Amino acid sequence: MHASFRNGERMAESVHEAVLAALRNSRKYGDICEATLDRIAGRAGQRHPRAKEALKAAKRKLHQACGAYLDPMDLDAIDRRLASVPTGAKEEDLLVPCLDILRRHASTVERIPLLNVLYRDVFAETGPPRSILDIACGLNPFTLPWMKLPPSTPYHAVDIDRPLLERVQAFLSKVGRAGSVACRDVLVTPPTTEVDVVFLLKALPCIEQQERGAAVRLLGALRARYAVVSFPARSLGGRDKGMPVHYGDFMKNLMDQLKFGVKRLAYSEETCYICTLRRYAGNGST
Ligand SMILES: C[S@@+](CC[C@H](N)C(=O)[O-])C[C@H]1O[C@@H](n2cnc3c(N)ncnc32)[C@H](O)[C@@H]1O
Repeated sequence: MHASFRNGERMAESVHEAVLAALRNSRKYGDICEATLDRIAGRAGQRHPRAKEALKAAKRKLHQACGAYLDPMDLDAIDRRLASVPTGAKEEDLLVPCLDILRRHASTVERIPLLNVLYRDVFAETGPPRSILDIACGLNPFTLPWMKLPPSTPYHAVDIDRPLLERVQAFLSKVGRAGSVACRDVLVTPPTTEVDVVFLLKALPCIEQQERGAAVRLLGALRARYAVVSFPARSLGGRDKGMPVHYGDFMKNLMDQLKFGVKRLAYSEETCYICTLRRYAGNGST
């Protein structure tokens, strides 16, 4: 092996270590999934020979991946709202506190106008789900009151944002919802749980932005009957930028590669594609 190549590798490795240490100590990103910090620090170390630029690039990536959606200052407000929810409360009685919490996240706030129709329309296509895996869930588990699922239907939630997941776990425990909450980077460890319906709500653009080709790999690895994939109608800044057309092409490319059928549900805030995967063996299904 060429000596300058080995030197380059060693330099990238030391920048990786320095960036990882700085991210672990960062107030904003220190509680994000360790595998994500390591992956993003490693990438930054390969691209930027100087630790200062590498750290800046890593923080920019983390902002796009998760930091842009929830202000850590809002966690206290979520906690106060959660504290008002009695243990054993029924999901259907929690519309008001859940709406307050959903407003705190840049992604779920956009879903609020849809809540009365979204799950009605989705479950009309999939049938009543026997289990749900919500990948890159954000605060979406707080929309459970609108799903109208029996408490025994397991709801599995996965994200990289540990503080957010702690609030999701507190909510699921209070309402006695079956399921699980996992802090996991799906680019590093794709989910293997076999479920009836997977939610990938506004998740694939964020996943693909982190690594080209990651969306097709993730979708291809799912073991589920249906995947509900959605895309925002506008950018976080509120501009249209031709997003429905752009994501329509993105979705078509995924369908061509993975060969599944879709049903499209278009709303002014979000476009959903219900993908029929049929990779599910549970309860006698295919
Ligand atoms: C656009 S938000 C979508 C949140 C939610 N699904 C919704 O529709 O409101 C993207 C979410 O993906 C999570 N995320 C980003 N990268 C991830 C990864 N590699 N693995 C798991 N979750 C990730 C972020 O923490 C954030 O909560």
